[in-house]
Amino acid sequence: MTVSTDVCAPLAVLGHDVQVPLASGEKVTYAALDYAASAPALQRVWDDVAAYAPYYGSVHRGAGYLSQLSTDLFEQSRRTVADFLDLRDGDQVVFTRATTDSLNLLAGALPAGTRVFAFETEHHASLLPWRREGVTVQYLRAPRSHGEAVAALDEALAAAADGPKLFCVTGASNVTGELWPVAELTGVAHRRGARVVLDAAQLAPHHRVSVRELDVDWVAFSGHKLYAPFGAGVLAGRSDWLDAAQPYLAGGGASRTVAREADGSVAVEWHAGPARHEAGSPNVIGAYAIAAACRALTEAGFEALERREQQLVARLRDGLAAIPEVKVLSLFGEDAARVGVLSFVVRGWNSSHFSAALSAEYGIGVRDGLFCAHPLVRTLLGGEDAAPSECGAPEPSLPGERSLNAIRVSFGAGTPEEHVDRFLAAVRELVTDGAKWTYRNEGGRCVADTAAR
Ligand SMILES: Cc1ncc(COP(=O)(O)O)c(C=O)c1O
Repeated sequence: MTVSTDVCAPLAVLGHDVQVPLASGEKVTYAALDYAASAPALQRVWDDVAAYAPYYGSVHRGAGYLSQLSTDLFEQSRRTVADFLDLRDGDQVVFTRATTDSLNLLAGALPAGTRVFAFETEHHASLLPWRREGVTVQYLRAPRSHGEAVAALDEALAAAADGPKLFCVTGASNVTGELWPVAELTGVAHRRGARVVLDAAQLAPHHRVSVRELDVDWVAFSGHKLYAPFGAGVLAGRSDWLDAAQPYLAGGGASRTVAREADGSVAVEWHAGPARHEAGSPNVIGAYAIAAACRALTEAGFEALERREQQLVARLRDGLAAIPEVKVLSLFGEDAARVGVLSFVVRGWNSSHFSAALSAEYGIGVRDGLFCAHPLVRTLLGGEDAAPSECGAPEPSLPGERSLNAIRVSFGAGTPEEHVDRFLAAVRELVTDGAKWTYRNEGGRCVADTAAR
């Protein structure tokens, strides 16, 4: 494979030099390979937040200088996010806690009688918020190609009754890293009169997301996956359904006026726009940190970041392909385009045991389990519910040697090549020589038995 040599260096992140203890008592530099769960903070984000922190003040209506400065920065952060997402005129940015919060907000704003469509392969945050009174949810079976996904959506929408419809789709899978054909799916949805919300939790940290070009109606993402772990997230897009809905939270900030009526009741006039769904004191630092991350990623340039990430993806895939005991999980097949997220199983190993050994013996942080996408992972593993084997024990010999959970390795803009190489070397060694330590089950998790040290 030929790859351009015009590749940027990893972006500076916090924690790149943190030493962690191994089960043996030795210390090594941590290799953070769980970016898909939460990415480390970009140094730039940390520096920007630190520079602003002394000037932090209450936002909205505070009369003091720092309140006014903070209000300006909070509203400026909204504009930075709007630019980052290439929003259309009239779109709005609501600051939330994270993607889950954003999608629940939208779910609460659906007009009565809305039909929601989602593939069963979604993360639970995209799968579950729609299940509420007055909303019908239709789950579509796992497609095995982009074409199948587009055709399945078209068929489902064509058969749907009249009325408001919403299709929810993830941009990049948190399990396989595979990209979904968002623009094609949106084209079909719009032709059939449905709106689209894009779950960009895993896409936005890796790819430029243009709402205008993708033509989606809303997009949601989380700050902590975008190198800005300060507790904020975003829901951005069309205003009409959001402005027509009851506020997500009732309280100060969302209300324009509250007045006592002659009959003793209280009448409320709610704001329109983002404030309607941002009741309570907003997370100014969280919003500011997201804006700082948007600036830093834009300045680094997604083209260069993607080129570098694709080199790491190729290195990882080639390395894993050379280990016959490893099976990489994929919905759309070997050649599907993906971000730096990849799940796999190792023949004869309980995934929790394998991940615990990567941590305890090599200082490498990955994740194991079903990744809050149970239907997808079970589809990929080829099985239904069953209890995983005891930690430390080899997987029972199931038909086709199928595993019951998986291991996920994920990385991004701060990952040096050396982390991928270290990970591959560790996988090779564990597969060949086995774990050196003993492990036990503690509260359902596999941990190294350091008492045996
Ligand atoms: C694709 C996807 N959507 C939604 C979420 C939920 O994000 P959060 O936990 O930040 O709300 C995640 C988190 O892993 C995810 O990977």
